[in-house]
Amino acid sequence: MHPAATSDKSMKTPVLIDAIKEPDTLAVAADALRAGEVVAFPTETVYGLGAHALDSEAVREIFRIKGRPATNPLIVHVKDKASAMALVSEWPAEADALADAFWPGPLTIVLPKSTIVPDEVTAGLDSVGIRVPRHPVARRLLELADIPIAAPSANPYTGVSPTLAEHVINGLPDLKYVVDGGATDVGLESTVFSLVGEPRILRPGMVTLSQIQKILPNAKGWDDDDHTDDVAARSPGLARKHYSPSARVIVADLEIRPMVSGTRVGVIRCSPNSPPILDALVKALPSDADGYAQGLYSALHELDAAGCTTILIEPPPHDEAWGAVWNRIKRAAHS
Ligand code: TXA
Ligand code: MG
Repeated sequence: MHPAATSDKSMKTPVLIDAIKEPDTLAVAADALRAGEVVAFPTETVYGLGAHALDSEAVREIFRIKGRPATNPLIVHVKDKASAMALVSEWPAEADALADAFWPGPLTIVLPKSTIVPDEVTAGLDSVGIRVPRHPVARRLLELADIPIAAPSANPYTGVSPTLAEHVINGLPDLKYVVDGGATDVGLESTVFSLVGEPRILRPGMVTLSQIQKILPNAKGWDDDDHTDDVAARSPGLARKHYSPSARVIVADLEIRPMVSGTRVGVIRCSPNSPPILDALVKALPSDADGYAQGLYSALHELDAAGCTTILIEPPPHDEAWGAVWNRIKRAAHS
């Protein structure tokens, strides 16, 4: 038996499945999922905490491990469009067009659910969020397991999503199975788009409103500053504080850097050529939105792990490509 395939309930360290060096061991993760176990795995956005989406007990275990309120619905990951259609009660032409344009990829589509989807997955809502991920490891896992996999981001509730297997293990040390697929490519969670009621973005992601409007011209965007009950009712996961490191996050122009005394300060800049700042730990991210998005969560995880109690984020540009980045920064900064 391959060493990665050995597992023991009394073990403290997780079974780390290296999907890059040892792709055959993915079968262990697929079998575990089919058997109702919880498995963390990489997607192109962030790492997910997966379980068999049609197994209520397995899904409840995700909520327990994550400390997530049962009122916050999960996204179901499937291998292809046909598998998505099996989970919904309606498959409108708009869903077909979006799936053809963006799947596999970082777009979650919310549709009226079929009765086969347990209430645990959807937090009692009549709709279900579904996506086909494009990460090769996620795709292979979905093929091998041949089941829909419900998965939120693999971090403790309200924490920063993991973009490395190491982030998953640090945040959720008691997990039994972690599939390591290296650093994720997109770096921010998927765009969540609802086709229930008015077609609109519920959570921005790197698939932008303009890209969606090329397919659905009447699609509506989101408002970062709208935190009414109405928004919460549309998507319960849009609680204001989210994506937060332990450190206090402040979005501040570095020219008018606030005085922060007696604290270890981390700084996230949006240019790879940023100069050092005295006494601060500086993470300089790429100046393009894709590169910045890919590195943002890693930077937050690293500054947190280094013991920074305050993280200053230099405001990035404001154009549409940066919409999802701004959404996450504002929510990380919300106390
Ligand atoms: O990229 C991603 O989306 C990652 C990877 C693992 O796929 N997953 C992720 O899941 O970010 P999570 O659970 O952390 O966020 C899911 C979001 C929440 O804001 C939730 O409220 C929304 O999707 N959502 C899920 N199902 C929904 C539904 N039926 N109606 C409205 N919003 C829904
Ligand atoms: Mg999350």
